[in-house]
Amino acid sequence: MTELQSFGDWMVGVQSTMEHALASFLPSPAETPARLHEAMRYAVLDGGKRVRPLLVFAAGDLFDADAATLARAAAAVEMVHAYSLVHDDMPCMDDDELRRGKPTVHVKYDEATALLVGDALQSQAFLVLSEGGRHEDAARTVAMLRLLAYASGSVGMCGGQAIDLASVGLDLSLRELEQMHRLKTGALLRASVLLGALAGKTLGQDETAALDAYASAVGLAFQVVDDVLDATADSATLGKTAGKDAADNKPTYVSILGLEQSKALAEQLRIDAHKALMPFGEKARRLREIADLIVQRKA
Ligand code: IPE
Ligand code: IPE
Ligand code: MG
Ligand code: MG
Ligand code: MG
Repeated sequence: MTELQSFGDWMVGVQSTMEHALASFLPSPAETPARLHEAMRYAVLDGGKRVRPLLVFAAGDLFDADAATLARAAAAVEMVHAYSLVHDDMPCMDDDELRRGKPTVHVKYDEATALLVGDALQSQAFLVLSEGGRHEDAARTVAMLRLLAYASGSVGMCGGQAIDLASVGLDLSLRELEQMHRLKTGALLRASVLLGALAGKTLGQDETAALDAYASAVGLAFQVVDDVLDATADSATLGKTAGKDAADNKPTYVSILGLEQSKALAEQLRIDAHKALMPFGEKARRLREIADLIVQRKA
């Protein structure tokens, strides 16, 4: 880690590294089927905060992971995330027309293409993560593949999305709401942290527990803030349709706890995240800064 570099400069550096990495890991639009490849690139490139890659790189810094392995892990998790957004926006799910400041994939292309873009991005993610590892690191690569698979599937992101869709119009308890958020959003954020760390070394139990506590706090905080911003920010700032949760009758932290308590919870989770990093000392600075970003962001 470059000690003197500001968080803002570090973030822009990772974002730019990621743009190049993603562009090189995605199939070329010149390759057949060109329209599908073009749509995959439309969904992934040129947009998004890249919070998951930031987490991968920050956790990797902690254990001196090499940049090439981090770029692959970060690209893999960002591809799964982008696929989840493409599907989340489809008419059968949230039916949204704006994402990352652009028309959603099913609007720009068509529904079948959006479905296939998601499917193909998921496969591409695992392909990218499986490549480039050194022979002696094969066991660690398998651990990373398993981690992402678990976080993406029915007991992770997809499971959370299923609960989200089944919960429209329902009065969820706080526990149920938390469970939904931890799965639909927290799981991939947690995977980002652990993938970055695993890219550096095989983790000990204490390290895994501390990182898990951090990831669990920022993972939940991220979706609490997403719910708050849906209710308080405008579409131009967010690059996606604001006010959609209330319009769709979705249970959210705002609908269940109210705005002020939701903001207070996010702040508490930010503090929990900082506490969890204490064993790592100054070296965890980037992870602390990302917790601040996640809670204090305006978009
Ligand atoms: C939006 O994620 C969907 C959620 C999981 C809440 P982000 O807010 O990270 O979206 P991008 O990647 O910046 O567009
Ligand atoms: C989506 O949650 C989470 C995933 C895509 C897995 P939301 O439906 O709240 O995300 P936005 O608000 O559309 O970005
Ligand atoms: Mg949704
Ligand atoms: Mg949505
Ligand atoms: Mg939302």
